[in-house]
Amino acid sequence: MAISVHQHWSSRFAFLFAAVGSAVGLGNIWRFPYIVGENGGSAFVLVYIGFVILIGWPVLVAEFTIGRRGQMSPVKSVEVVAVESGSSRHWKWVGAWGAFAGGLGLLSFYSMIAGWVLAYIIKAAAGTFAGFDSTASADLLDRHYANTPMMVFWHLVFIAITIVIVGRGVQAGLEKAVTFLMPLLLIILVSLVGYSATTSGFGQAIDFLFTPDFSRITPAVMLTALGQAFFSLGLTVGTMIAYGAYLSKDTNIVKSAGIVAASDTAIAVISGLAIFPLVYTYQLEPGEGPGLIFTTLTVAFGQMPGGAIFGTLFFLMLAVAAITSSISLLEPAVSYFEERQGIGRWTAALIAGAAAFGVGLLSVFSFNEWSDILPLALFGITEVGGQPANFYVVLNFFVSNIVMPFGGLALAVFTGWFASRKLLREELGLPDAFLFKLLYGLLKFVCPLALLIVIIAGLI
Ligand code: PFF
Repeated sequence: MAISVHQHWSSRFAFLFAAVGSAVGLGNIWRFPYIVGENGGSAFVLVYIGFVILIGWPVLVAEFTIGRRGQMSPVKSVEVVAVESGSSRHWKWVGAWGAFAGGLGLLSFYSMIAGWVLAYIIKAAAGTFAGFDSTASADLLDRHYANTPMMVFWHLVFIAITIVIVGRGVQAGLEKAVTFLMPLLLIILVSLVGYSATTSGFGQAIDFLFTPDFSRITPAVMLTALGQAFFSLGLTVGTMIAYGAYLSKDTNIVKSAGIVAASDTAIAVISGLAIFPLVYTYQLEPGEGPGLIFTTLTVAFGQMPGGAIFGTLFFLMLAVAAITSSISLLEPAVSYFEERQGIGRWTAALIAGAAAFGVGLLSVFSFNEWSDILPLALFGITEVGGQPANFYVVLNFFVSNIVMPFGGLALAVFTGWFASRKLLREELGLPDAFLFKLLYGLLKFVCPLALLIVIIAGLI
C-alpha cells in the first residue's frame, strides 16, 4: 500500500461541498445554457441527463474509488490500483493525460471566461448596465473582447487567485468559503428564475427547454452532450480522483457521487430557466455561443429594480463558483508535481498555473488580435461545430469532445476490465450486492460501448 502524502477533508460535508463546488461552475451557468441554445433545446437536455445517469455517475464513482484507494495524485493513484490489481502500471498515463491535457488545457480557457466574469463584477457595481437593451449589452461585450490588455489582465488575475489558493493548501480557506458561498449562489439563481418567470418570454423558454424535438439530435450533438456531462461533473481530468484521495474511509462513495451529480444537473437546469426567458423576452439569439449569459443577464440587470446590486452579487457568486472549480483543475497537476518531483506546493502551483496562463493567451487572442487565425486551416479545417476554428474554438472542442470522452472511455475500461473487482467492492464497501452489480455492469459494458459509439459517430 502506498503511503498517503495528503491531508483529508475535515468532514463528509466538507468533501461534498468541495466536490459539488468543483462540479458546479461556469459549466452550469455559462456553458450549459449556450450549448443547449446551440443544440436545439430540450432534446439535448434529455440526452444530457441520460448521459449523466448512465455514464457520469458510474465514472464519478470510479474516480472517487480510485483516488481513495490510491491516496496519491491521480497519476499515481491509477498506477497503485493497476498494480494492486495485477495490471500494467502504464495505466497511469490515463491519469497523466487527464490531468495535463484535460485539466490544464481546460483551465487555460476556463480562466479566460472567469476573467470576463471578474470584469463584469466591476461593470455591474458601477451601474454600467442601467437601461440596457440587447444592442447595448452586445456592444459592451464586443468592446470587452476587443480590449486585449483587459482580457489578459483579468485572465491573469483569475489564474493568480487560483494559484494562491492551491498554493496555500485547499482545506482551511476553501472548505469554509465553499460551505458558505455555494448556498448563496443557489439563492441568487433561484431569485433570478423568479424574475425570469415574470417576463413575457417564460412560456417560450419552457417550450424550448422541455418540449423535445428529437430531429435536432445528431451524433455530433450527442458527442457534445457527453462532453458537457463530463465537463460539468468535473470528470476525466483527474479532479475527482484527487479529491477522492483526501476522502476518509467511512464516506459512502456511491451516495456522494449521486448527490454531486444530482446537484450539478439541477443547477444547470435552473440556470437554463433563469436565462432562456430573458433570451426570448429581449429577442436575443439562443444559439449565440459563449457570450450568451453576458448579453442576456446584463439586459435583465439593467431593467430590474435593484439590478446593480443583484448583478454585482450574481457575477460575484459566479466568480466564486468558477474559483471552486478552477482550483480543482489545478490540483491534479500540482499534487503530481509535489509527489513526483518533490517540489514544494507553491512552486508546483506556480509552474502549473503559469502553463495554463500561457496556453490561455491563445484563447484570449482568439477574441481579438488572432480572431482570423485558424490553426487547422492547413488541414482544411476552418470550422468546428459551426464556429470559425480559431485557437479557442479548437481547444474547447479538443478538451470537451476528444480529451474528455476518450479519458472517460479509458477510465471505464480500466475500472471495468483491468481493476480487480474484489478491490473495487472492498473499497466501495457496498453491502448492497445489487447496487454494486449495477454500477459494475454500467462501467464494464454500458459505458465503454456507449462511449465508443458516441465518440466514433460524433467524430465522423
Ligand atoms: N465542472 C466545472 C464546471 O462545470 O464549471 C468545470 C470543471 C471543474 C471541469 C473540474 C473539470 C474539472 F475537473
